[in-house]
Amino acid sequence: MWFTNACSRIGFGLYALAAKALSLPLLLGSDIVITILNAVTRGRPTGHVVDLWPEGQRHLWPRYEPPKPTDSRSPCVALNCMANMGILPRDGRNIAFPDLERAVMRTYNTSRTFATLVTRYAATMLLRDFEHDTLDLSDLCVHNGIEHDGSFTRHDTYLQPDQSKPAEELVTFVLSSATGRNKLGEPRLTVSDLITISTKRRADCRVENPQFTQTFFHKILGSSNRATLTDIFGGNVKDLGVILRQERLPEGWEPSNRSRFGITIHNVNATVLAVELGIKEERGPRRIQLHHGL
Ligand code: HEM
Repeated sequence: MWFTNACSRIGFGLYALAAKALSLPLLLGSDIVITILNAVTRGRPTGHVVDLWPEGQRHLWPRYEPPKPTDSRSPCVALNCMANMGILPRDGRNIAFPDLERAVMRTYNTSRTFATLVTRYAATMLLRDFEHDTLDLSDLCVHNGIEHDGSFTRHDTYLQPDQSKPAEELVTFVLSSATGRNKLGEPRLTVSDLITISTKRRADCRVENPQFTQTFFHKILGSSNRATLTDIFGGNVKDLGVILRQERLPEGWEPSNRSRFGITIHNVNATVLAVELGIKEERGPRRIQLHHGL
């Protein structure tokens, strides 16, 4: 009996280990297949990008309500938007990871692989079980988990301990840095603007924040978040003003990526690579700004 028990435990342990080791390559492999399928299929027509909209009510997002002081909110504009629109629970609490994964896919037209990577990574980072545990949005505020220094919409934790709300002056700076134009001739944020803003944010934070940290991993993670400003949110300053300031999805807005099977990890990574290679970063000893005239 003990022998069968021991064998089944060892077998299960080996299976779990193999599943873990193979899951990332499998996910990235599937993502390549979806990226190719997207490239050879027709994109979704306007008004049919978001799966959440009922037939006959295209472009109609659920009602926006600003968060109450007791609601839980995150440093992520995309997730806060979903809670403020009632796509996630409005109080931002007790969200099951599989529900979050589905909601991300359906709201932002992401591939399953993209949604799986971000939600599973959040569960792992918080030491939670993806299938059985839940998340409050504010759990994502843990510093140097996914949240990190040098962001576009929040001052560093050292300067702004509450990471759940956007910093108005940073958002204004980001929007006023847009140099592109959309088809209507209105201002639009471009990938080149993401490079300029990232360069300035990293340089400023090195000076302003005596506890500034930036690992290679957090740089890539941060550029992945910011790549969505152009690749999913579309870069239009008019829309981004509403999205970044009020954390609200504007009436009539839909994800700029119309691909049949949703934007993939590889699609976003192309922008991440362009941004990271373009950033000019100061190296060497940090110059810390001393306070109180010292
Ligand atoms: C479960 C899925 C997701 C999780 C766990 C997550 C988590 C986070 C976290 C922790 C941050 C703060 C990073 C920082 O300190 O700068 C963040 C920022 C952000 N995220 Fe998400 N996110 C998710 C999905 C998404 C999606 C689907 C989008 C796009 C549609 C998105 C767009 C952004 C943007 C634009 C920022 C702001 C970046 C900045 O201020 O520099 N996120 N996210």
